[in-house]
Amino acid sequence: MAGRYFEALVLCFCLISISYGLDEESLQNVEYYIPPETGMNISQLLEWYGYPFENHVVQTTDGYLLGLHRVPYGVQNTSTDPNKPVALVVHGMMSQSTDFVNNEPENSLGLLLADRGYDVWLLNCRGNTHSKRHVTLDPKKNKTKFWDFSWHEMGIYDVPETINYILNQTKQEKLFYIGHSQGTTAFFVMASMMPEYNQKIRHMTAFGPAAFMSHNEDIKYRTIARFQKEVELLALTLDIHQFMSHTPIPLYLVKHYCLEGMETYDLCVGIYYLLAGYSPTELNMTLLPVHVSNSPSGFSVKEGFHYLQGFTNGGYFRQYDYGSIVNRIKYGSPTPPEYNLTNIVCPVSLHYARKDQCVDFQDVEILLGKLPNAKGRIVPSEYFSHLDFLWGNHVRSELYDYVLEEILNY
Ligand SMILES: *[C@@H]1O[C@H](CO)[C@@H](O)[C@H](O)[C@H]1NC(C)=O
Ligand SMILES: *[C@@H]1O[C@H](CO)[C@@H](O)[C@H](O)[C@H]1NC(C)=O
Ligand SMILES: *[C@@H]1O[C@H](CO)[C@@H](O)[C@H](O)[C@H]1NC(C)=O
Ligand SMILES: *[C@@H]1O[C@H](CO)[C@@H](O)[C@H](O)[C@H]1NC(C)=O
Ligand SMILES: *[C@@H]1O[C@H](CO)[C@@H](O)[C@H](O)[C@H]1NC(C)=O
Ligand SMILES: *[C@@H]1O[C@H](CO)[C@@H](O)[C@H](O)[C@H]1NC(C)=O
Repeated sequence: MAGRYFEALVLCFCLISISYGLDEESLQNVEYYIPPETGMNISQLLEWYGYPFENHVVQTTDGYLLGLHRVPYGVQNTSTDPNKPVALVVHGMMSQSTDFVNNEPENSLGLLLADRGYDVWLLNCRGNTHSKRHVTLDPKKNKTKFWDFSWHEMGIYDVPETINYILNQTKQEKLFYIGHSQGTTAFFVMASMMPEYNQKIRHMTAFGPAAFMSHNEDIKYRTIARFQKEVELLALTLDIHQFMSHTPIPLYLVKHYCLEGMETYDLCVGIYYLLAGYSPTELNMTLLPVHVSNSPSGFSVKEGFHYLQGFTNGGYFRQYDYGSIVNRIKYGSPTPPEYNLTNIVCPVSLHYARKDQCVDFQDVEILLGKLPNAKGRIVPSEYFSHLDFLWGNHVRSELYDYVLEEILNY
């Protein structure tokens, strides 16, 4: 445990020394390799790679305007057959649609699906870069109301209403669902609270499925979880309702300190491991400028706290805990209701990793035991962490090739 605190201390030290060292001039006259896709957003990336892009907007019944991005066909398969299979892909916390297309076409799930003849839809859940809009609320002027949501609301509004929108647009009855992290949490909320949606799912694929949290020992999250009451009060006092929204700073830092050949390169790799988990065989620093061009994409404070509650609530996957007094008013009981996983009867495949620092494999195995129609598969790579489900060097051979074969059975 002490070792882990030491890691955190080193991390703070590194961040401070980096911010002291911001020095534009030291860069001049030196050439480092920056991939051409650096700085591109999703429509620019797709155009660059030659894929079609459609921008759709889904208005939820509680007024959020969600950016829903479609890649209707691929480069290797340009079929526009109206009966082609439909795939809905949903991102994790702080992430967005772009993160499924920015790992070069041969290693990006969104583009692999399009090239295999799927009609691909990439959702952006409320609050992220592409979905920070509402019919009456302004995310800045009406902060408190706009940001009053967690992944529970994504599960009961964003995901089901997007499914209805897509099925209506494509005139189909069912779709394939693929979620990463929070994109799986929102699915489990939907399929347990609104079981009729199970009928609209051909198959659900989960990457790093996040439901139970009590086995997570990551020092960063554990520390915040331990002080969650204090942090929540602090955020409330400072009127902070969202974290980690998109800014140019990560890309700036990566371009100035993290390119191969730079003096600070090793330090960057170390910081990446501290933030995203140790994955020496999977981290690709060459593509880091592309990956951080759109990341992180923001999340609501409540979304974060809802997960943190799972660290300390004794192993429950349940609705937001407001404290016993408010819980009684909202739910009619002092503790929040659990999500009834028995209701999730559609076929589910859980893909998880032994060393995922966000989602502990023991918690996934608890989930697996509670889902009535689920299979589990551990990614074989020894080092595979949470972001490697999107960007790992071997994500194709370790995961995507298997998944693309697997879903053909449904
Ligand atoms: C990407 O950026 C271009 C140029 O700023 C802009 O026109 C386009 O709307 C952006 N695409 C999306 C999906 O936001
Ligand atoms: C292309 O996609 C269509 C629609 O999904 C499918 O029917 C067809 O078999 C695919 N063709 C190839 C060569 O994969
Ligand atoms: C949003 O904020 C504006 C400016 O403060 C205010 O006029 C408006 O009534 C607020 N809207 C809602 C729905 O609360
Ligand atoms: C389905 O789509 C049509 C247009 O294609 C639209 O008029 C209709 O309102 C949609 N229905 C639902 C339930 O969204
Ligand atoms: C990182 O990605 C680049 C671009 O796809 C590739 O050329 C390189 O081999 C990758 N690095 C590793 C270590 O696999
Ligand atoms: C959960 O759902 C199952 C099947 O739908 C039902 O039999 C069971 O009673 C539910 N459990 C609770 C605690 O509501």
